[in-house]
Amino acid sequence: MNFKINESKQKLRGGYYTPHHIALFMSRWVAEIQPNHVLEPSCGDGVFLRALRDSGLSRRASVFACELEPEEASKATGVADELDMGNVNVHAGDFLAWALQALRDGQTFDAVCGNPPFVRYQYIDRSLQVHVERLFDHLSLTFTKHTNLWVPFIAASLALLRPGGRMAFVVPSELLHLIYAGPLRDYLGQNCRDIAIVDPTDIWFGDTLQGVLLLFAEKKPESSTKLATLEIVPVGQKEHLSGKLGDLRNPSRPVTVAGLGPKWLTAFLTPRQREALNALAVNPHVREFSDVADVDVGIVTGANKFFFVTDETVERHSLHEWARPMLGRSEHVEGVIYDAEQHERNREAGRPTNFLDFDVPFLKKLPKKTADYIRTGEAQSLHRRYKCRIREPWYVVPSVYAAPLGLLKRSQNIPRLFVNELGALTTDTAYRVQPKSASPSSIVGSFVNSLTALTAELEGRHYGGGVLELVPSEIERLLIPMASFTKSELRTLDASVKRQTEPFTLLKKRDAILCRKLDLDQTLLTTLHEAYTTLRGRRLRLPLPPSSDDE
Ligand SMILES: C[S@@+](CC[C@H](N)C(=O)[O-])C[C@H]1O[C@@H](n2cnc3c(N)ncnc32)[C@H](O)[C@@H]1O
Repeated sequence: MNFKINESKQKLRGGYYTPHHIALFMSRWVAEIQPNHVLEPSCGDGVFLRALRDSGLSRRASVFACELEPEEASKATGVADELDMGNVNVHAGDFLAWALQALRDGQTFDAVCGNPPFVRYQYIDRSLQVHVERLFDHLSLTFTKHTNLWVPFIAASLALLRPGGRMAFVVPSELLHLIYAGPLRDYLGQNCRDIAIVDPTDIWFGDTLQGVLLLFAEKKPESSTKLATLEIVPVGQKEHLSGKLGDLRNPSRPVTVAGLGPKWLTAFLTPRQREALNALAVNPHVREFSDVADVDVGIVTGANKFFFVTDETVERHSLHEWARPMLGRSEHVEGVIYDAEQHERNREAGRPTNFLDFDVPFLKKLPKKTADYIRTGEAQSLHRRYKCRIREPWYVVPSVYAAPLGLLKRSQNIPRLFVNELGALTTDTAYRVQPKSASPSSIVGSFVNSLTALTAELEGRHYGGGVLELVPSEIERLLIPMASFTKSELRTLDASVKRQTEPFTLLKKRDAILCRKLDLDQTLLTTLHEAYTTLRGRRLRLPLPPSSDDE
């Protein structure tokens, strides 16, 4: 867990500045409508002021800029003076407080551009948190404490934009899929006419701004009843930004926002891929994962190295009485079955395979050697760690039970569901999965296919490095074509998973098996396989495959 105290001052104010060529590309687009009043809600040292000037903005146009940090605000004023931009007014203060008043006063702007601060809600000062909450309230948007400062910045900016006005922002890629950005996605869909999102397929910003997108949105004209459309514009090299956004757009790509569902990642699919997904979603054999199984988190120890140990540690401290078999790391399960054989291989390799289940709450009742071991943990202050100090006593871990199935929380290719034949306990690297309506073999046998793999890409999240991660609520929404599989068929799958070096061959093979068993249309699964390849490639930043629908 990250704590505010460990974060740098720059991170806490979201102070990462936009390179001039990107600000210029964005400014050129807003300047196309010849705005008279422009807003920059968090101007830092004034990159966008310079870019607006370079974009050919009329000298008569006025620019209003906000910046929380007075020192940066005065640098921005300096930029405006240096460029002789007489109509620039830089306000040193919180944009959200200012925006609340401006909205009440009925102020509007023709254009907005900038790069808002990316700061978690719990990291911002209470005085600013109040403004965030008031802003959500003012715009009737659902507020959660998981939100991030950039969300109210974009929402307030859109609210301050006149009908037909343009807005261009640097935004985190979380805009497309994370739950906390859902109210903003809805708000954009309801209030915009056209949205384009430039998706860098290369890293443009270096480490600090990895995973950003450029959002371009045109507000609906007052009388318009047209539904908002969205286009994802993949852009490889930053050199492409020297031209106009319009030159990079493809008139066949925009889709209606209302048809995308709650997350916008489906906008990466071609119309044919979306149709195939919709067709399979209503097939009677296809179920949501929540229909076939329940998902619970693994055991949270708060000190894995202390509770999750090798045979050698058990031996040295005579802890045999407490040791229970455990699977603690993703790489400890090679296939889709965790059995005695796999456990033995892990033990022989000297891996930690024992969970120490000290289920006696009185230290005095424990054998001396066990009590000594617990004291070694206290000497390392483990009992003061957050997860440990909230339970009494700290060394008795709650919720210690094994489930018949496990699902690895993170994956490189496809999420791995496995049968826990040994009944091993699992740490928080794997979820505990309880079958509801089918056998473990059938659920695991049905899980490996292009439809499920694609829905995992659409539902999941990924961070730097591209590893795919799913939380329980996302797993529950995965689509799974349910067929019956015997234990012996499961063994065959287990052997294939252990052999696999890339996901594609295996997925195609499993798609063919499921099509045979369930009489599914093979072309639909082939289409979804292409869609999976595109999204996986985007996640791992692989070159884009050519798409037949795009030509
Ligand atoms: C990502 S930087 C972008 C700066 C500039 N727009 C650019 O593109 O280079 C975000 C800026 O927002 C400022 N900031 C943070 N909280 C703010 C707030 N509540 N109101 C106004 N500015 C804020 C930070 O100090 C930082 O300079």
